[in-house]
Amino acid sequence: MTGKYTYREIDESTVYSELEDVFILSPQRLRDICKVFVKEMEKGLESDDCTLKMIPSFVTNRPTGKEVGTYLALDLGGTNFRVCEINLEGQSKVRLRAKKFTIPDSAKTADQSVLFDFLAESIAIFIKEYNINTENDINLGFTFSFPVQQTALNKGTILLWNKGFNCANSIGKDVVTLLSEALTRKQLKVNVVALVNDTVGTLMSHAYVDPGTCVGVILGTGTNAAYVESADAIPKWKGGPIKSNEMIINSEWGAFDNERKVLPWTKFDQQQDDQSTNPGKQTYEKMISGMYLGEIVRLVCKDLIERKILFGGMSSTEMDTPGKFETAYMSRIERDHTAELTDTKMVLQEILKIPYVAPRDRRIVRRICELVAIRAARLAACGVAAVVTKMNRVDTGCTVAIDGSVYEHYPHFDNRMRDALHELFGMFSENVSLQLGKDGSGIGAAVIAALADK
Ligand code: GLC
Repeated sequence: MTGKYTYREIDESTVYSELEDVFILSPQRLRDICKVFVKEMEKGLESDDCTLKMIPSFVTNRPTGKEVGTYLALDLGGTNFRVCEINLEGQSKVRLRAKKFTIPDSAKTADQSVLFDFLAESIAIFIKEYNINTENDINLGFTFSFPVQQTALNKGTILLWNKGFNCANSIGKDVVTLLSEALTRKQLKVNVVALVNDTVGTLMSHAYVDPGTCVGVILGTGTNAAYVESADAIPKWKGGPIKSNEMIINSEWGAFDNERKVLPWTKFDQQQDDQSTNPGKQTYEKMISGMYLGEIVRLVCKDLIERKILFGGMSSTEMDTPGKFETAYMSRIERDHTAELTDTKMVLQEILKIPYVAPRDRRIVRRICELVAIRAARLAACGVAAVVTKMNRVDTGCTVAIDGSVYEHYPHFDNRMRDALHELFGMFSENVSLQLGKDGSGIGAAVIAALADK
C-alpha cells in the first residue's frame, strides 16, 4: 500500500491521554522517588553490598584554580573515546587538544586486551600526531566511566560493564594495570597517575573555575553523579582519617531502583531491559540516558503500529530493528516547529522508511518523544534533588556541573529539569545552579592528576 490509508477510529486525544497516563510523573511521585533516593544513598554509604555503590573516589581535595602542568587524559565511556593533552595554566585557565577515536564495536565485547590495546594504540597515534614529549614519562589521568571499586587514586577493580560494553576477562581486575600493561606492550612512556569516573572529573574541572561546585552529573550515553560528602558520613570508609574531611563519592546512581520499587517502570522499559546487554541492571539509567531514550520511543511506536493506531499499522525493517530510532532523532523531532512537522516526516519517511506518514502520525510521534524526554528530565531532577538534599544544601545552595550529550543538546532538557526542581523545592530551587560543564571528564582527570602531583 503506498497511498493514504483510513485510520482506525480512535480519537487523537484518546491516544494522548493513554500515553500521558503511562509517562507523566506527578509532583507527588517526584517527591516519593527523591525520598527513596536519599535513603538508598545513605545505605550505600554504610555498606558495599547495596544497589547504590556510593564509591569513595579517593579524591579528597577540590582544586583552587591555581594548579598548573601538562597532562595526558584518556576519556573512555561515552559515545566517543578521546585522548587529550591538557595544559592547566593556573588562574582557572585550561588549554586542551583532543582527538576522538571510534571504538570498533568488536572491541567493546571481546577480551579486555583487545580494548586496552586499542586504547594504547590510540595514545601512540596521538603522541605522534601532536608531537608530545614523553622523554620524562608524561603523567596521565584515566577517565574510565564504568563502575569501579576504587582502592587508591590510581587503582580500582572493574565491577561490571554497561552502555553496550562487556569485555571478557576483566571483572575484578585493576583497570590501571590493564592499561599500563597495554602501554608497556607498545613501549610507551606514560604513567597512569589517576583513575577517574567522568562524574568526578566533571565536578573537579568545574570546581577549577567555580569553587562552589559540589556535584558533577553526566547526562549522556549513560547517567551518574558524584558529589562532595563529609568524611564522617561514610561509615564504610576504612581508609583512615581524611585531612580535608571531605571525600568525593561516585554514587553510580544509574543502578538506582534496580529492585523496581519506586520508579515508574513500564512495559516499554521492561522490553528494552530484556533486549539489553545487562538486563535487570542500570534501571534508572535506562529511563534517562541517551543510549536508551530513542529505543523507548521506538517500542512505544511499535506498540501503536501493532494496534493499528499509528501509520495505519504499517512498519518498516528500520522501525522493527532495536537501536535504529536514535535519541538524536528525538531531538530533531522536538526541534521541528513547522506547521506540517516536515522534519518529523523526513525522519520517519526518509530515515526510518515508514511508507506513509500522515500529519496525525507526525503529531503522535512528536508527543511520544516529548513525553519520554520529559519523564527522563524529571527523573534526572529527582536524582539531583536527592543529592542536594543529602548534602544539606537546599538552603545554602550549590553549583551542579552537568555534562553529556543529552543535557547539552536535547531541546528543553535543562528547563524541564528546572521545572521539576521547582516542584520539589519551591523557591529554594533557585539555590541549585545547574551549569553545563563541558569537556569536564577529560579536564577533570588532568586536574586530579595535578592535585596528585602536589
Ligand atoms: C554509567 C557508568 C558510570 C558513568 C555513567 C556516565 O552509569 O556506570 O560510571 O559515570 O555511565 O558515563
